[in-house]
Amino acid sequence: VPISNIRNFCIIAHIDHGKSTLADKLLQMTGTVQKREMKEQFLDNMDLERERGITIKLQAARMRFVYENEPYCLNLIDTPGHVDFSYEVSRSLAACEGALLVVDSSQGVEAQTLANVYLALENNLEIIPVLNKIDLPGAEPSRVAQEIEEVVGLDCSNAIHCSAKEGIGITEILNAIVQRISPPHDTAERPLRALIFDSYYDAYRGVIVYFRVIDGTMKKGDRIIFMASEKDYFADEIGVLSPSQLQVDELYAGEVGYLSASIRSVADARVGDTITHYSRRTDQSLPGYKEATPMVFCGLFPVDADQFPELRDALEKLQLNDAALKAFLHMEIVQERLEREYNLTLITTAPSVVYQVNCVNGDTVECSNPSLLPEPGQRRSIEEPFVKIEMLTPKDYIGPLMELSQDRRGEFKEMKFITENRASITYELPLAEMVGDFFDQLKSRSKGYASMEYSFVGYKESDLIKLDILINGDCVEPLATIVHKDKVILLFFTLDHHFNHKKVLKRKYNLIFNTLVAVIKWNLMVELYSSDVRDFIVCAFTFMLINMLTSKFGSSLVDSCHIEFH
Ligand code: GTP
Repeated sequence: VPISNIRNFCIIAHIDHGKSTLADKLLQMTGTVQKREMKEQFLDNMDLERERGITIKLQAARMRFVYENEPYCLNLIDTPGHVDFSYEVSRSLAACEGALLVVDSSQGVEAQTLANVYLALENNLEIIPVLNKIDLPGAEPSRVAQEIEEVVGLDCSNAIHCSAKEGIGITEILNAIVQRISPPHDTAERPLRALIFDSYYDAYRGVIVYFRVIDGTMKKGDRIIFMASEKDYFADEIGVLSPSQLQVDELYAGEVGYLSASIRSVADARVGDTITHYSRRTDQSLPGYKEATPMVFCGLFPVDADQFPELRDALEKLQLNDAALKAFLHMEIVQERLEREYNLTLITTAPSVVYQVNCVNGDTVECSNPSLLPEPGQRRSIEEPFVKIEMLTPKDYIGPLMELSQDRRGEFKEMKFITENRASITYELPLAEMVGDFFDQLKSRSKGYASMEYSFVGYKESDLIKLDILINGDCVEPLATIVHKDKVILLFFTLDHHFNHKKVLKRKYNLIFNTLVAVIKWNLMVELYSSDVRDFIVCAFTFMLINMLTSKFGSSLVDSCHIEFH
């Protein structure tokens, strides 16, 4: 099709508001995917993602659509829905001219949606509001439309009423994409500039790169260079995503496609990087590229020490598969994948952020591993990363959420009512207090109704110390953490604060279990201290385990294990 008949768009939606269901319907309605070949939701294709109901990998699909007897090519670029992926979202938005803003009309606008709408507006995208789930008895499309107008300042007079589930409003959406979103600029004559919005590792072909051609043309076999990494390759295979990969010989400005060039490492072709020709190079890379700056670290240990080489091997492979291996949410997924796909049994330590330590001699050292923290005599102060979080919540849950933030050393910034019934609350708090279960707590304390968004604000000095865990007088380095002075006693026992989340509780249970197995195996003594009532739950667990182990191994083995409360 001519470039004037191409439309590139993405879907902005809060988790569970129906993005995947709508994407599926669009693919079906345009005949891109037949119903029977559809494995429920085509765009979320990893099992784990489906189980968790979240989208991690960005993908794309090309659809053919006939509008007023003219063929159109609609490229849908998927965006991840979780709070931890705003950079990836911003790069997929940058690859589009328009976006569908899907809001559940029985709910309303959520913090994450807002953040992504602002990103889309910054990228000058045309936004089409879609009020989904109008089939639900509790749907209030006009209230939600008004909320979008008030909160986002977006005209909703032509918002589309839709039920992705029932297939209502789908043709209207396709028509609106053609009518309202502008076609790409025809810049095929310029030197090549293509924006990478995703990549993944294929065991046989190496890294597969997904990109949007912004300017110029890419031909099969071209020698290309990734501008940020300065790595060059021959584009052995290029193609479009329909949605499975379909080889073509040439891709022009405005088109979306993939390439395979026997690339060994995802680091060579990172999301946000610009692809250009090796010989006819552009002098300006595309804006918005960001280096990955990990701020959270977490230790991973195989229960069986003999599995170390296997773990290293598996991690390397997994990393190639997963460019955005960065958040704790991800950490859990990494652990589960390693356990499932590579048959390893693992323990994770509490996640740790990167601290900056100002030393007496004037040096500043970055410290991601508590065991590398300079001795107290050598350090002047410790700074930790802070984030600003914005929570959107129905007014009933303001109290519990403020309490949660205060508990996590949060500093109150502001509160506004965005509608009569919904408030936005802003706090600044240490990243270390947010990684882990903050998001789960927010959800459970608001019965699932609140949502959040966060951004990094900078490093600030805090009263931090290192907490060692000693087993029988020997310091167990992997269990060491850096904590705030006020929380030392609590953390001494709990190791991390995950209490309400079933999954993590299971993990804590694993950790205690594994520690106990070690205690029994090496005949060590362990003392556990706690000042928090909730810890008795864990103590009960421990006792239960000890009883279990006693009956299994005989009491002599566990004589040396005792627990004290202080
Ligand atoms: P993530 O993949 O986690 O980002 O979620 P999503 O936004 O893709 O939501 P998804 O399409 O998985 O839909 C979430 C739930 O809402 C599913 O149980 C869908 O069946 C349901 N759902 C989606 N659209 C509609 C709709 O129009 N009406 C009703 N009643 N339910 C819908």
